[in-house]
Amino acid sequence: MNLIKKMLIAPAAVLAMWAVTAQATTDEAIAERLKPVGEVCIMGEECKGIETVAAAAGGGARTGDDIVAKHCGACHTSGVLGAPKIGDTAAWQARATNGVDGLLANAIAGLNSMPPMGTCADCSDDELRAAIEKMSGL
Ligand code: HEC
Repeated sequence: MNLIKKMLIAPAAVLAMWAVTAQATTDEAIAERLKPVGEVCIMGEECKGIETVAAAAGGGARTGDDIVAKHCGACHTSGVLGAPKIGDTAAWQARATNGVDGLLANAIAGLNSMPPMGTCADCSDDELRAAIEKMSGL
């Protein structure tokens, strides 16, 4: 075998091995991701992921629209007590010096006349965030 051929074959072999390894990793990763779906839940035993499925099925998380309509709109529709109005992105933007994260933190804690959690005591952080994003357009 001449030198040129050797030089061509060696990297090819490395490349082939790499391809096989990469494929194996991918298969493992896929199997890992599929696992929770394929796992059987037995009554009385802890079954991880079931809450997520229930939430996705409609039992859990409410949309930003739901939260706004039920809790936030009372003040934020017409700007009661100086509340930034729904859709007035400029007003929200001016407050969002620390982004939506900062708005969320103040919504959770309350701010002056703005009640803690915007009166939605059972709202999750994600639900409040969705409501804020909905109202502010940010
Ligand atoms: C009782 C009236 C009222 C309700 C109900 C209400 N807000 Fe507010 N909200 C206010 C007022 C007033 C302000 C302005 C507070 C200030 O800056 O002095 C405000 C400000 C905010 C801000 C801006 C905070 C900041 O950093 O400047 C966010 C975010 C917010 N509200 C989210 C919500 C969400 C989400 C809901 C519903 C879950 C909600 N609010 C319900 C009155 C209300």
